[in-house]
Amino acid sequence: MIKEGINLTTDTDVAADATSIPSFDTKSSLQKTLAIAVTFVIVAIAVALWILRPAFDPYTQSVLNLSGDPVQGRSIFVMNCVACHGQWANGKVGPNLHGVRDRKSDVRLIQQVVSGETPPMPQFQPSPHDMADLLSYLKQL
Ligand code: HEC
Repeated sequence: MIKEGINLTTDTDVAADATSIPSFDTKSSLQKTLAIAVTFVIVAIAVALWILRPAFDPYTQSVLNLSGDPVQGRSIFVMNCVACHGQWANGKVGPNLHGVRDRKSDVRLIQQVVSGETPPMPQFQPSPHDMADLLSYLKQL
């Protein structure tokens, strides 16, 4: 240690101080940088997975790649959905679906129909083509 007023500092003390202090600083700042980098990479991977999540579902992907026909979608709706959502989708047991596209994204609308996660609405398993038709009908309500 170098203290004012003490003249007995040897060359080795100076050398020890000169090497030990900077090397300690380098190590801790390296660790900090590493910790920040690792955190950043983990967060980046999590965000990327979250954003790409719908793309990993091949069913949703194939529905989105098709262009649906709302007239066909209307007839699928009449056969499967009017009991709960009403003849003109104005709502009965299930909610009014007019303007539903503003509340739910395409992916969410597909999930709503095929997931069965919101009972009493049942889980439907339309073909990707039927789902694309249904989606185009829901989006023009
Ligand atoms: C047994 C009754 C029932 C049937 C049949 C049914 N639904 Fe539903 N649906 C519901 C209920 C109840 C909800 C509200 C669920 C919730 O969010 O808790 C709902 C919610 C929805 C929503 C989300 C509405 C919003 O405001 O977010 C959509 C879209 C939807 N249904 C579409 C359909 C389609 C398309 C069909 C036919 C393929 C269908 N439903 C058939 C009962 C039904």
